[in-house]
Amino acid sequence: MALTRKQLRAVAVAASLVCVGSLTAWWLHCGRTGALCGDPSDCRAGACVYGVCVAPEDTPANDYLYSARWHDDSARMRRLILRGLRLRSGMRVADIGAGQGVVTQAALDRVGPSGHVYATDIDPRAVAGLRALAQRCGATCKLTPVAVHAPRDTGLGDVPDGSLDRVCMINSLSFQRIFGRAADRTYLATLRAKLKPEGELWVHVDVLEPWERGAASMAALLREAGYGYVAQVPMPADIPAAVPVIRVGGWQGTLRRGFVLVARPSAGRS
Ligand SMILES: C[S@@+](CC[C@H](N)C(=O)[O-])C[C@H]1O[C@@H](n2cnc3c(N)ncnc32)[C@H](O)[C@@H]1O
Repeated sequence: MALTRKQLRAVAVAASLVCVGSLTAWWLHCGRTGALCGDPSDCRAGACVYGVCVAPEDTPANDYLYSARWHDDSARMRRLILRGLRLRSGMRVADIGAGQGVVTQAALDRVGPSGHVYATDIDPRAVAGLRALAQRCGATCKLTPVAVHAPRDTGLGDVPDGSLDRVCMINSLSFQRIFGRAADRTYLATLRAKLKPEGELWVHVDVLEPWERGAASMAALLREAGYGYVAQVPMPADIPAAVPVIRVGGWQGTLRRGFVLVARPSAGRS
């Protein structure tokens, strides 16, 4: 029987609750395929994979997600995007969901003291880190950290319309359909208004969760939001697009690589 991820988790949670306080129940339920685990010794046989006991015959096809290869591929993706952004001295850039500021720092290095980078984040801890970064670089760079207060608030209200050369959204916002299409469209249209006509929005999602929009759906949303040009940037061919990471019973969990999209307000290619 094929179980959905939700069903699997419900079964595992129920089994682990039974485990508490009952030795017989432990023998009956715990450590079986599908039970929650934190360590291989929690499972009677097979392995503990991503927190779930799997049978020996279900051991995952590979451990890509925990490998150095995964790390390298993710770093390569970031380098590919930074090259694609073609940042130059004096450019004005917004890094949406800047996190620890890795891309922000790279952007600051490229746009120089005559450029300007706005780095937004919804997590106050990230904003504190971005403020520290702004203090460290002082007069040698123009960095404006922005605290975002709601998931569909761009935080760029003070940025003049038509003034940005690039907006990048790298593994930050995920368009999961939970805020509704209208809110997502309005959010992306607000970013479009901030861009120069030939400016570019780069969107990268590294791992595509099952509930997130894929490239085609996201591209359609961008067009609805008024972007005249939307294109998918090919991922390097040797980065696997889909990796089977866990198998429990008949259910197969597959990690799907996300996408890179570039969108411009104007219709023409540059
Ligand atoms: C995985 S990190 C990626 C950080 C960075 N872009 C990078 O590539 O290293 C995701 C960041 O997006 C932020 N984030 C999530 N939703 C957001 C939103 N609606 N607006 C702004 N930031 C958001 C999170 O707080 C987190 O710092």
